[in-house]
Amino acid sequence: MKFFVDTADVDAIRELAELGMVDGVTTNPSLILKSGRDILEATREIAELIPGPVSAEVVGTSADAMIAEGRKLAKIASNITVKVPLTWDGLKACRILSGEGTMVNVTLCFSANQALVAAKAGATFISPFIGRLDDINLDGMDLIRDIREIYDNYNFETQILAASIRTVNHVTQCALTGADVMTAPPNVIKALALHPLTDKGLEQFMQDWAKTGQKIL
Ligand code: G3P
Repeated sequence: MKFFVDTADVDAIRELAELGMVDGVTTNPSLILKSGRDILEATREIAELIPGPVSAEVVGTSADAMIAEGRKLAKIASNITVKVPLTWDGLKACRILSGEGTMVNVTLCFSANQALVAAKAGATFISPFIGRLDDINLDGMDLIRDIREIYDNYNFETQILAASIRTVNHVTQCALTGADVMTAPPNVIKALALHPLTDKGLEQFMQDWAKTGQKIL
């Protein structure tokens, strides 16, 4: 499973990239707001830092506006993925932009049928939002499972990019279900390495090592 980091914070991306944890990056208008950065500058900086797909989202609501914005974003770098919302206008923009050779990430997906039409429109990535379904007492992972089955039934090449990931358990479930990619905030990716028994075991080893009086270096 590929790891994308869901942030526009360049320092956080750099830190995780040094550990080999970043196969790509996703941003959205809320994350640009949080970063306080100019979208074009931040996107360019991230795309130079990370060779994998870097999603930058359009904000127009008509297909024409999304296509124009998408073309401008795509010019920033060859690894830019234009992110469009899952509306009919977004799907039209997806069709046009992907036909021009631009990677497209169709976002705000909350149903299997939405994922089906995004694949038909030529999406490179589909972004089902797991956490937001959990928020309304639905099971976001059920959606990932359904999309996986549908895409496999018909050999759709659209990659499932599990988004709105809030917990390390979401990450485990995505990996078990066969999501192609998961995008998570830096704090969730960092938490993947944590376990209290690791900390406890290490503490015991350090105490015993001190008693040996030995040194390795
Ligand atoms: O990738 C989508 C993500 O940024 C949305 O996450 O936590 O706002 O639902 P959240």
